[in-house]
Amino acid sequence: MSYSQAISSLSMHLAAAMALLVLASSSCSTTASLSNDEVAALLRWKASLQNQSQSLLPSWDVGSNQSYCNWTGIACDNTSSVAYIILNNVGLTGTLLSFSFSSFPHLVRFELHNNSFYGSVPAQIGNLSRLYYIDFSKNHFTGKVPSELGSLRNLQCLYLSDNKLSGTIPQELGISTLVWDLQLSGNNLTGPIPTSILNLTNLTNLYLFSNQLSGPIPQELGLLRSLKKLRLPLNNLVGSIPHSLGNLSSLTELVLFNNRLSGPIPSELANLTHLQAFLINNNKLTGHLPQNLCLDGSLTTLGASKNNLTGNIPKSLRNCNSLIRVRLENNRLEGNLQEEFGVLPSLDYMDLSYNRFRGKLSEKWGLSKNLTKLVISNNQLTGNIPPDLAAATKLHFLDLSSNHLVGEIPKNLRESGLLFHLNLSNNELSGNIPTEIFGTQSRLQNLDLAANNLTGSIPREIANCENLQNLNLGENRLAGGIPFEIEKLQFLQSLDLGDNNLMGEILSQLGKMPRLEKLNLSHNMLSGSIPSSFGDQPTSLISIDISYNNLKGPLPNTKAFVDVPYEAYRGNNGLCGNQKGLIPCSSPEVRTKTKLVLLVVVPLVGTLFLSLIVVGIFQFLRKRVILKAESEIQVVQNENLFEIWSYDGKIVYENIIEATEDFNEKYCIGRGGYGTVYKTKFSSGLVVAVKKTHPSQDGNLVDLKSFRSEIRALRETQHRNIIKLYGFCSDSRRSFLVYEFLKGGSLENKLRNEEEALRFDWHKRMNTIKGVASGLCYMHHECSCSVIHRDISSKNILFDSECVAHISDFGTARLLNLHSSNWTLFAGTFGYAALELAYTMEVNAKLDVYSFGILTLEVLMGKNQCDLISSLSSSCSSSFSSLPSTFYGILLKDVLDNRLPPPEDQVVEEIVITTKLALACVNTDPHLQPSMKQVSVELSKLRPFSESSFHTITLGQLLDINCI
Ligand SMILES: *[C@@H]1O[C@H](CO)[C@@H](O)[C@H](O)[C@H]1NC(C)=O
Ligand SMILES: *[C@@H]1O[C@H](CO)[C@@H](O)[C@H](O)[C@H]1NC(C)=O
Ligand SMILES: *[C@@H]1O[C@H](CO)[C@@H](O)[C@H](O)[C@H]1NC(C)=O
Ligand SMILES: *[C@@H]1O[C@H](CO)[C@@H](O)[C@H](O)[C@H]1NC(C)=O
Repeated sequence: MSYSQAISSLSMHLAAAMALLVLASSSCSTTASLSNDEVAALLRWKASLQNQSQSLLPSWDVGSNQSYCNWTGIACDNTSSVAYIILNNVGLTGTLLSFSFSSFPHLVRFELHNNSFYGSVPAQIGNLSRLYYIDFSKNHFTGKVPSELGSLRNLQCLYLSDNKLSGTIPQELGISTLVWDLQLSGNNLTGPIPTSILNLTNLTNLYLFSNQLSGPIPQELGLLRSLKKLRLPLNNLVGSIPHSLGNLSSLTELVLFNNRLSGPIPSELANLTHLQAFLINNNKLTGHLPQNLCLDGSLTTLGASKNNLTGNIPKSLRNCNSLIRVRLENNRLEGNLQEEFGVLPSLDYMDLSYNRFRGKLSEKWGLSKNLTKLVISNNQLTGNIPPDLAAATKLHFLDLSSNHLVGEIPKNLRESGLLFHLNLSNNELSGNIPTEIFGTQSRLQNLDLAANNLTGSIPREIANCENLQNLNLGENRLAGGIPFEIEKLQFLQSLDLGDNNLMGEILSQLGKMPRLEKLNLSHNMLSGSIPSSFGDQPTSLISIDISYNNLKGPLPNTKAFVDVPYEAYRGNNGLCGNQKGLIPCSSPEVRTKTKLVLLVVVPLVGTLFLSLIVVGIFQFLRKRVILKAESEIQVVQNENLFEIWSYDGKIVYENIIEATEDFNEKYCIGRGGYGTVYKTKFSSGLVVAVKKTHPSQDGNLVDLKSFRSEIRALRETQHRNIIKLYGFCSDSRRSFLVYEFLKGGSLENKLRNEEEALRFDWHKRMNTIKGVASGLCYMHHECSCSVIHRDISSKNILFDSECVAHISDFGTARLLNLHSSNWTLFAGTFGYAALELAYTMEVNAKLDVYSFGILTLEVLMGKNQCDLISSLSSSCSSSFSSLPSTFYGILLKDVLDNRLPPPEDQVVEEIVITTKLALACVNTDPHLQPSMKQVSVELSKLRPFSESSFHTITLGQLLDINCI
């Protein structure tokens, strides 16, 4: 909404700025006699502003040789009295309480748009009887709209939008009858729209949107014949649209969306032939759309979605060349769509979904050359998808789902090469999936062809759609195997191939897709066993469904399958495992049971001999199974890993043993949750840190190959804030990681040691936080590996000699196998791990986000604030609403590390923002947490200085949760 306001206010400001120039060059060039009162008043006001703000007005100084008429933002009239105060976008913080209104009797224009003024708008403004233009929009003014504004008989333009004003709109505004532009949008105003407004016969623009206004739209509005733009959306207005609005024949914008308006749309609105925008979305309106919309060919925007409208599309819209954006979804509109619209050359966006349109899909859509989004889902369209549709070459988004479309998918759809969303699901389409729609450099992100009658196999060419995130081909009659090439779809998040006739085995690649969250392979004829690759990665899989296939063998005990419900794997006769509904896999007890059964059954048949043979064979088989298992473990253990790159691994391994005298205590420089760190100096002089890890509990690494590739990815990581990993060694006795050696010690030490803590000043602390955020952001979002740390704590943030923070121990959690199968082993450092997250299957990057939040609070507060954190994590409901109320009142300045002097200058604002971000990070609802990317971006923004709020800001204020 604010876009048009922004534009209108921009043009106002331009006009004002020009007026200022004119004034400055004409009137003020005459030597002005100093008006002491005005100068003193201006200087007094300046002195009341926040320090930093004062420096933004350097010319406001009697010492300077400039006439005050030439001061920044000031212009005088020909009596050398201040006529204009125009200080838009200056960055001022302060109040109007020290502004002496009575000192400026000649003031005609007063503009403070887009600053940080707070406090109330003083009633004394009513004394400035010459004022015709007030712009206080986009500040933090609170309190009421002063009724004294009504005494400003010359007032023409009043802009108080985007503040925090509350209370009702004063009746008295109706007295200033010259007002033609009234903008009070974006406040917390309540109560009704005052009827006195009918006195404002010049009113052209009335912007009251984004408030909490209630009651009906006054009938009297119909008397304001000059009204051109009526914007009342995003309020709580009730009742019907007044018939009298039909009298407003000059109206170009009628914007009423997101209210609670009901009743039929008055037929009188047919008189509004000049409308450019008609937006009534999200109300409870009934009846027909107004006839004559676009009669004079100027309608650009039509929105009536989410009402109960009936009837046809007005005929006047059929060839509405000006139409750009149309949203009519979720109504009960009807008619033969082939006839409702002609060619619409300007059309960009059209949503007609969830209505009762029938008929064929018109080929004319293809001629609407500017169309980017076309949604006609959930109607009753019939016939083929016309190949001509592809002529709409700007099409990005096409959704024709849930209709009765038949025939094949046109091969040329791809000609609209910008398509990123294609949904043709739930129709009666048949034939093969045309390979042509998967051209290279495809932008396709979402492809949904589910619930059709498609046959043939899944085209290999699908691999060309490298950006694909959601692929749904379920409920068709596709046959053949799952193409191997699918592994190229590295961004795939959801893959649904359920309910087809697919055969062959489940590709092990599917278990390694880095971003796959949802996988549905149910109701097919897949055979073979489930690849062990499933779920032993730091897997992103949240939902998996392999039910009703012919799968056999063990259901893996990996994370992906630990919590899956029975419904997700039932209907596979050959599966075994400890999970519900499955027979255990070849455990000794089963064998004995089987044996007993055999022993009972076989004598019944009367052949003791036979039973002996059976038992014999059985014992033999059992031995072989055990032997085989043992030899597999052997293989794992014999395969020593010498992954130290650019060196001969084996030699380095021996050198390390030698240099540390087989890990003698005297080289030990630290101990962490995962192991002991030794400083290791090679004979060549190279110093490295070797972390000897505790032997892993399970003894074996489940998937050496994927583990090794992860280590390799970590080694290739180049980021200023991530410690360099040189390599990894492992043999049957021990495993160790070889890191770059950093001199600066750990964050934990810095915070614990009094002297170090003093030297670790606010700037260094902010840089540390930013560095850690940047490193995590890189690992989560920017590097190709996308690795989660899982154990961020002050122990493993290390510093180099320049005090740059480096995150260490990426991947260590994986090394120790803690997260592959057994969740109870989770042992993240106490106080940092989001337990709720760790114990649910939700473990993902948000665990790091949470730990980052805790770490940040620790850096700012100097210690791990147990009370604070427990009060936060005890409120594991979806928000912070259950926090103890005392928490809200704690002042930020009181919890900052008191060993340091209070922060000053620029860093103050950074600390406020950083605390706010940290509190958002420790929200236990992962959906409300920001991503590391968002955190990192926010932290890197430059902030204006505003010390004033720092001393009063509370944690409660910083918790300000955004509800969207
Ligand atoms: C205007 O100023 C006078 C004194 O100068 C004061 O008495 C009066 O209340 C003011 N009027 C308003 C509307 O503030
Ligand atoms: C409308 O304006 C007249 C003067 O033009 C004034 O007397 C009257 O009080 C105003 N009505 C309202 C409701 O403000
Ligand atoms: C699906 O296609 C087959 C022929 O390929 C046809 O017999 C069947 O009726 C179609 N089913 C539907 C629901 O259109
Ligand atoms: C998987 O697909 C089948 C068939 O389309 C469907 O019945 C099932 O609900 C889907 N499973 C999940 C978890 O969505």
